[in-house]
Amino acid sequence: MAVGLQIAIDGPASAGKSTVAKLVAKQLHYTYCDTGAMYRSITWAAMQHGLRLTDEVAVVALLDKSTIRFEPGEVEQRVFFNETEVTAAIRQPDVTNNVSTIAALGGVRQKLVQLQHQIAAVGNIVMDGRDIGTAVLPNAEVKIFLVASVSERATRRYKENLTKGINTPLAVLKQEIELRDKKDSTRKISPLVQAKDAVLVDTTSLNIDQVVARIIRIVQEKEKDH
Ligand code: DC
Repeated sequence: MAVGLQIAIDGPASAGKSTVAKLVAKQLHYTYCDTGAMYRSITWAAMQHGLRLTDEVAVVALLDKSTIRFEPGEVEQRVFFNETEVTAAIRQPDVTNNVSTIAALGGVRQKLVQLQHQIAAVGNIVMDGRDIGTAVLPNAEVKIFLVASVSERATRRYKENLTKGINTPLAVLKQEIELRDKKDSTRKISPLVQAKDAVLVDTTSLNIDQVVARIIRIVQEKEKDH
């Protein structure tokens, strides 16, 4: 399907996937695709429409008549649901706490995976999510499974939230992360699981630059035999 290398970065919530994936893409001049932002966008829209989040037929119908697209921004990629910019709205705690419910709907996953395949078809791509190495791009040349301890992930989310004016207590964030991990890894369709051929990278005691450097080294090794 695709030309060039595909890099799949999966892992649990707040393990640093998007931060790292963005930097890897920038350094390599690859396209970056944040699949979590897609699940967040349809969650945001379903909530705006007052849909029951377990109502698969209604949520898929909404998705069918809508578009989700990315545009390059000055600081970060901008996300649009139809013509509405949702870049900030999809990071709000109400969306974060409901997204696992929507992400468990098979019809939603099917539609979003189609969109992910279209984006990946451009070639050199870094895609991050939960099921990229296992289900979306099973033939990706580079697969990374990024993990970190729950405390470390909660602390990172806490600091990130503060910069956005969100002040959820650390203990609550820890519980939310544990709950989201559980929902994401126990759902029936494409659960969060390390692909057999993925390289495990534990970022608990690594900084962002160290993680990026490690992934770039893995990519360079692959490029040699590509
Ligand atoms: O990476 P994130 O926190 O933005 O992801 C938001 C949610 O979307 C997460 O709870 C699980 C879901 N998700 C998924 O099921 N599959 C993906 N490929 C990406 C995200």
